[in-house]
Amino acid sequence: MAKTKFPEGFLWGGALAANQVEGAYLEGGKGLTTVDLLPTGEKRFELMLGKVDSLRPVEGFFYPSHEAIDFYHTYKEDIALFAEMGFKALRVSVSWARIFPNGNDEQPNEEGLQFYDDLFDELLKYGIEPVVTIAHFDVPVHLVEQYGSWRSRELVKFFEKYATTLFERYKEKVKYWMTFNEINMLLHLPFVGAGLVFKQGEDQNQIKYQAAHHQLVASSLAVKACHEIIPDAKIGCMLAAGSTYPYTCNPEDIYSAMEKDRESFFFIDVQSRGEYPGYAKRFFRDHNLNIQMEPEDEELLKNHTVDYIGFSYYASRVTSTDPEVLKQMTGGNVFGSVENPYLEKSEWGWTIDPKGFRITANQLYDRYQKPLFVVENGLGAVDEVTPEGEVIDDYRIDYLAKHVAEMAEAIEDGVEILGYTSWGPIDIVSASTGEMKKRYGYIYVDKDNEGNGTLKRLRKKSFHWYKQVIQSNGANLENEGGK
Ligand code: BG6
Repeated sequence: MAKTKFPEGFLWGGALAANQVEGAYLEGGKGLTTVDLLPTGEKRFELMLGKVDSLRPVEGFFYPSHEAIDFYHTYKEDIALFAEMGFKALRVSVSWARIFPNGNDEQPNEEGLQFYDDLFDELLKYGIEPVVTIAHFDVPVHLVEQYGSWRSRELVKFFEKYATTLFERYKEKVKYWMTFNEINMLLHLPFVGAGLVFKQGEDQNQIKYQAAHHQLVASSLAVKACHEIIPDAKIGCMLAAGSTYPYTCNPEDIYSAMEKDRESFFFIDVQSRGEYPGYAKRFFRDHNLNIQMEPEDEELLKNHTVDYIGFSYYASRVTSTDPEVLKQMTGGNVFGSVENPYLEKSEWGWTIDPKGFRITANQLYDRYQKPLFVVENGLGAVDEVTPEGEVIDDYRIDYLAKHVAEMAEAIEDGVEILGYTSWGPIDIVSASTGEMKKRYGYIYVDKDNEGNGTLKRLRKKSFHWYKQVIQSNGANLENEGGK
């Protein structure tokens, strides 16, 4: 077997989000969150964009987060399976509304706090490091109703209190934190990223960038509090990454690709370098955006930058300035992209680009010179259970093996990477479509798009493969054919 390129202590594992796994959406004192209002079907996308007419679930729709995969009740069995694969880390998120049901309650909800205490204890029992995202696509609905969510500066202090409550409570248990999941998603799916609901005729850019500023300030306050309360912890940001390629070597295309990447880098430039980059200020000027900032913000952002760069990588993107080329668009983690003629796509149209993973990792490391943490990567695919009760997901093994191999190359390039938590190690609800059919897991969950199924768990072929990858610390990526 080849020698491993991964450092000792590399954090292999998986990543989940509260709203996509827990279910129990009103149990244990939890309040309603934005994600609880997202049904399956066509309506979902409209809502995610901020076109929301009801802040309560509506009869006749199916809401997949309400039960999800019932992780709230099954976490012990599920964690035992992760431990069987040899996980060193599990990324989870805390649901804000489990801790503060309205988002701004005086006192936290003890039942919610206790749930995560138990969850972290269960992980630590197996030596699995919890990696915790403070906000993964959910805002308590009460804050949307009362304040318009992140368009209001008030949210900064509510978030600070929420984050501080978590740091105080879990300071002995959690040493890896992240503030906002895929913070750049706010620009693409504003209701998902920031609970933003728009009225007709509003300047959406103005509202989005103002909300972004509030999240950036809130993020730096969380970094500050984390460093004060848990000095030996590391706290990072989280970017939906994936480099944008120019379609041709026409400088117009090159520039356009750079601009596209900067749309995302802007957030991390602030969180990691501590100030608004010149190109962002120019963007605000050119678009007549007037971002309200408090006098203390500049210093806050400067003094409390993140310790590492967390990112998700699923696909690269392609852009062009040629209107004809722009007609050949494909899907991909919400970011539209021109089809890349050199690459294959997943069943959901997401480009499959392992080399792009190495490119992205190098690009991020060159730019920020801070350790990276790959906190999401994986293939959403349809799985079939054979009559013998097996799932032979060679396509998933192939995707993951190629990506892990490129990550190893990035490490050889000198990129510092703390760990790799692949997305959805157990099948979960898809964030973009709400489907169960779009599966990422090493563990199959018996549930369909309509909510039918026994919720029974089943080890897929990739389960055994990933166990071997972890055991060999990334040296053995072979698909050895075991079931
Ligand atoms: C990321 C999110 O955008 O991609 C996750 O952080 C999401 O929440 C993941 O599930 C995969 O996307 P999808 O739409 O296939 O679930």
